[in-house]
Amino acid sequence: MDLHDFKDVAENYDRYLEVMYTTELNKHENFQEFYLELAKRYGQGGTVDIACGTGAVLLYLAERGIEVDGTDLSEEMCKVAGKKAKEMGLDLNIYPSDMTKFSSGRKYSLAIIARSGFMHLPTQELQIAALMNIREQLLPGGILTFNTFDPLPSIQAWQMNNTPDGYVKRLEYINCNGNREEIYNGLSYNFIKQQLYGNWKFVEYNDKGEVIDERIRPLLMRNTYRSEVFLLAQLCGFEVLDIYRGYKGDKEDLNDPDSALKYQSNLIWILRRKDEEDVIRPMSIEEIPECVKVIRDSFKTVADDLGFTEDNAPRFAAFATDEGRLKYQFLVERRPMYVLRREGKIAGYYSLAFLEEGGAELNNLAVLPEYRHMGLGRKLLEDCFSKLRMYEINKLRIGIVEENQVLRKWYEKNGFKHIGTHKFDFFPFTCGYMEKDI
Ligand SMILES: C[S@@+](CC[C@H](N)C(=O)[O-])C[C@H]1O[C@@H](n2cnc3c(N)ncnc32)[C@H](O)[C@@H]1O
Repeated sequence: MDLHDFKDVAENYDRYLEVMYTTELNKHENFQEFYLELAKRYGQGGTVDIACGTGAVLLYLAERGIEVDGTDLSEEMCKVAGKKAKEMGLDLNIYPSDMTKFSSGRKYSLAIIARSGFMHLPTQELQIAALMNIREQLLPGGILTFNTFDPLPSIQAWQMNNTPDGYVKRLEYINCNGNREEIYNGLSYNFIKQQLYGNWKFVEYNDKGEVIDERIRPLLMRNTYRSEVFLLAQLCGFEVLDIYRGYKGDKEDLNDPDSALKYQSNLIWILRRKDEEDVIRPMSIEEIPECVKVIRDSFKTVADDLGFTEDNAPRFAAFATDEGRLKYQFLVERRPMYVLRREGKIAGYYSLAFLEEGGAELNNLAVLPEYRHMGLGRKLLEDCFSKLRMYEINKLRIGIVEENQVLRKWYEKNGFKHIGTHKFDFFPFTCGYMEKDI
């Protein structure tokens, strides 16, 4: 039984959490905005908030137009979330279920486990069962996010000397009956199982200051070391895409153990479902017609956004790419050309041209519109960097539509520097040039 299965805990959860996060160090500041950004980036194929509790993230996202379902082990927490949704005029699918088993009959492109829900899986077996199940509920390339804290020996040593009835007062607040209530924690630590176990005690007072109720609720959570998360991800068919240090956008540097010691962060993991089909491999000549379509369809969205047409920009990739051009690049120029396959078709493409003055140019990096916001562009880019290292080339150049600020920012985020512009008569836009040291 989880702490949150109790009706009184569910009904008071929002009230005591508000006090907890205004008085304690770990405030989870910015967490709702953080998940909103993730949902905008990865949630186009649907989002599910797992272990949604009383809906702190779920309702925040739904209110802002994100298509999101919610699920939680505790029926009581789901009831509270459902009631709040109704009061807000939101018609949401919120259902009780265990994350090791849930299935709503549809797939999602983003699964969120916010604010320590993952830590409520008390054994490694259950963590694996949950990850395996969540993977099945995600679309290919779907994203899962959850958080962990590195176990901190000084805190655990203190807990190991404590017992489940060695209560320490944590906070007091006004409960849903309008009464003052004190919350105490009696927590101990099993360092072999990496489990935090013990009790929460709720003591309710009337307005004369007399105790009118005392409730003891059990707690069992597991601490997971960062190195375990990498192994769990690999074992369960995920890859680690990013790790944020808290909710403000800073990323954790895993190659720097000093940073781990210094920040002792709340680690927010961004995992991507790995699929066999995600392998990037050299294009074959038979794939040229499909690649032409991928390039034309991908660049067409840019043309539409910026008002380019076949008449005013006939030499733009969306209009100028044809089989003859790709065949020439493939057979005569012998360019390295790569495809990324997903669901039996080509979802992404890029090619490289080696420059006479040294270095290489990245051409026609393209991801079909329906496969965007799943990290495929970055995957292609990373593949390109690793190929260049293999060719011992240390400079990569790219030409972009200067007016396409979103794309420019994306390349900057991936380490490119802007080096200049040029205006050609035959384009209605300015060409921008960027460069990256490999
Ligand atoms: C700390 S609360 C976080 C709730 C919510 N995500 C938030 O940010 O307020 C943890 C939640 O995990 C849920 N939970 C625990 N074990 C679970 C499981 N195996 N499957 C689904 N939910 C679970 C609990 O019921 C509880 O609502």
